[in-house]
Amino acid sequence: MHAIKSIARVAKLSSLLLVTALFYTKSFAQQGRQIQDFDKGWRFNLGDVAHAGESATSDTKWRSLNLPHDWSIEGKFSKDNPASPEGGALPGGIGWYRKTFTVPAASKGKLTYIEFDGVYQKSKVWINGHLLGYRPNGYISFRYDLTPYLKYGSTNLVAVKVDNSVQPNSRWYSGSGIYRNVRLVTTAKTAIDQWGTYVTTPQVTDASATVDLKVKIKNNAVGSKTLNIKTSIYDAAGKVVATGGALPSKEQFNDTSFTVASSFTVKSPQLWSVDNPYLYKVVTEVLDGKAIIDNYTTTLGIRYFNFDADKGFSLNGKPMKILGVCDHHDLGSLGSAINVRALERQLQILKDMGCNGIRTSHNPPAPELLDLCDKMGFVVMDEAFDTWEWEKAKYDYHLFFKEWHKRDLEDQILRDRSHPSVMIWSIGNEIGQQSDTSALRIAPQLAAIVHSLDTTRPITAANNNPDTKNKIIASGAIDLVGYNYHEGEYAGFHDRYPGKKFIATETTSGLETRGYYEMPSDSIRVWPETWDKPFVREGNNVSAYDNVRPPWGSTHEMTWKVMKKYDFLSGMFIWTGFDYLGEPTPYSWPSRSSYFGIIDLAGFPKDVYYMYQSEWTNKPVLHIFPHWNWTPGKMVDIWAYYNNADEVELFLNGKSLGVKKKTGDELHIMWRVKYEPGILKAVSRKDGKVVLTREIKTAGEPAKIQLIADRKLIKADGKDLSFITVKILDKDGNVVPDADNLVDFKVNGEAFIASVDNGDPVSHDSFRVNYRKAFHGLALAIVQAKEKAGSIAFTATSKGLQTSTLVLTSR
Ligand code: GAL
Repeated sequence: MHAIKSIARVAKLSSLLLVTALFYTKSFAQQGRQIQDFDKGWRFNLGDVAHAGESATSDTKWRSLNLPHDWSIEGKFSKDNPASPEGGALPGGIGWYRKTFTVPAASKGKLTYIEFDGVYQKSKVWINGHLLGYRPNGYISFRYDLTPYLKYGSTNLVAVKVDNSVQPNSRWYSGSGIYRNVRLVTTAKTAIDQWGTYVTTPQVTDASATVDLKVKIKNNAVGSKTLNIKTSIYDAAGKVVATGGALPSKEQFNDTSFTVASSFTVKSPQLWSVDNPYLYKVVTEVLDGKAIIDNYTTTLGIRYFNFDADKGFSLNGKPMKILGVCDHHDLGSLGSAINVRALERQLQILKDMGCNGIRTSHNPPAPELLDLCDKMGFVVMDEAFDTWEWEKAKYDYHLFFKEWHKRDLEDQILRDRSHPSVMIWSIGNEIGQQSDTSALRIAPQLAAIVHSLDTTRPITAANNNPDTKNKIIASGAIDLVGYNYHEGEYAGFHDRYPGKKFIATETTSGLETRGYYEMPSDSIRVWPETWDKPFVREGNNVSAYDNVRPPWGSTHEMTWKVMKKYDFLSGMFIWTGFDYLGEPTPYSWPSRSSYFGIIDLAGFPKDVYYMYQSEWTNKPVLHIFPHWNWTPGKMVDIWAYYNNADEVELFLNGKSLGVKKKTGDELHIMWRVKYEPGILKAVSRKDGKVVLTREIKTAGEPAKIQLIADRKLIKADGKDLSFITVKILDKDGNVVPDADNLVDFKVNGEAFIASVDNGDPVSHDSFRVNYRKAFHGLALAIVQAKEKAGSIAFTATSKGLQTSTLVLTSR
């Protein structure tokens, strides 16, 4: 701990005495920073209301709700919604949110801020009738200082106007509203700034790590005072492993803000990695005498990484490929309203597949995503923009880029730069200006903004035209040359860009409908030729054999075969991990969500998930498909993904169909079999010993419902979720592969149905109802806890099927 003699901003003598007196009140001094969840108790009106920023305007007829909230997901699908099917075909519009709250008299003399993690989009915020500001970017975090306008000891009104009426403004589903968390933060007049700490690990060995910390103090107080700054680093068990502080230079004392740098040594550090994401906590306190006037916790992961032009990526000195996926921010049927458990479940499903990387396509993510990636072990490519000055969607961010890009990019880097998971910054996705000399100006400007705030991570841009004519690459601004697609050109990368480092910023774009199969051996080619077969199908289905791709993309196997071949290919981000709302390529209406996911919108893996699992994990995998309900005599391609075995033998009704093994660079094996009902059985063997056995039986008529909860015990915090998979079974317990039974759900007890889904990209049923048709035998119900602990009975009924009940507990 070091003493800091601070002569803060000199102000008029009269105010000096008053503020100093308040500043030293004991109750405050002991509290430090207060962070209050500000999500509850809002009023909402869909549609514009004149003067709703003013207190005199009544909101008594408005709906009551808690944040985060996405009003679009509550609407009806229609091709006529201005978002178009590309944007998810749900309504936008203008929405107003208001909340009244009291600020205790004891808060006088402190600073009170309202913090928004993201509002889509063009938000305006008022406090007690005063307009605080406007923020067009729907993905950026921001805060306002409420202090000058607050009424202490009485009621205050915050009002937020959200304008998502002018559309299309996005190439994917954005959602509308205050869809991320909101907080009220109260600090002393001298306090650590917003995103005011920055932690880096410049030197790491097994024996010790240097941890550098910068703390930015915002100094709004008047008068002179003596402050101490103390920082302690805690390990995961809560033990202090390093402690210290630092002194600002004398010149800084008079500034409205100053940064204090300090350095720590952690002996025998536990390194953060994707397999062991070990986290420390850096706790910084600002002390006035013995009183803590501010406290701030920063997550720390001690790690080092490198991108090498020849050897690719390494983490803590060990070579490793980034095996990542791109994802948009929606949470399927929950819409874009952030829910930590829903995000965590997505990441768990990806982790089980062997995925270790996330690209936040194509915008700053919710902060909770980065917290989870820190905690669960994912390498993050944190992306800023989908457009610069040229439009993609008519009313997208290109309209705001000139005025806002500096502020938005700075805020993103400041917010995210201490996360150990973040290892790449992307300054843009498929920016139109790749082809234009304006990129020679803009790319270096953006890179300079990033580098002014963080030099510990490389910058990339996701280029869909990665040849040497590309002006973003030619500008020299990017550290990693990012290729979107063009996997056929990976091998020649160094001929084109000698000595440069490579990252596959986006790959693949395989297309699949879960549970729908067209035999790859049936060489059906349908328009357009460049789209791989078979493509256009009644009902807007796409075969799930990993045999359909758009002209710019490739199948999953095509890309992975190249990726795994060359060490210099540091990693890849597959388009996409999960299906998302909007961009229903290769179709349009009546489809309203994507087919690109390795996992469908409801979170059910498609078959190709197991190809990755067999390649990316060590756990034994044997996955055979398709289902075994066909017309007798049909020739069926049976594929198997497997690992940890020498061979697989397939049996139909007890008769061997032969032993197969992968040869060369094959990623699956195949039998072509004439269908007859019965039992298909696969056995994988290593050294003659059975590793795994899988059976698929011809299913009979739907007879009953099976309910499987991902978690039966949830937290009674009003937010936690249980994801209940609903399976339609025949009388013998086999999933009926084409079952589309309508299932009704009922919840009794301390929970409610948050949403329902089945992964069908064509369904126009609302997600906010208590029924769903099964899609290829499956449906999903998401049950959300109330705030009271208790028992929850979840019942599923369907005409002609045996009813099923599941009991959950919230605690
Ligand atoms: C890419 C684009 C993504 C998505 C994808 C679909 O070109 O970067 O946002 O549109 O195509 O294949």
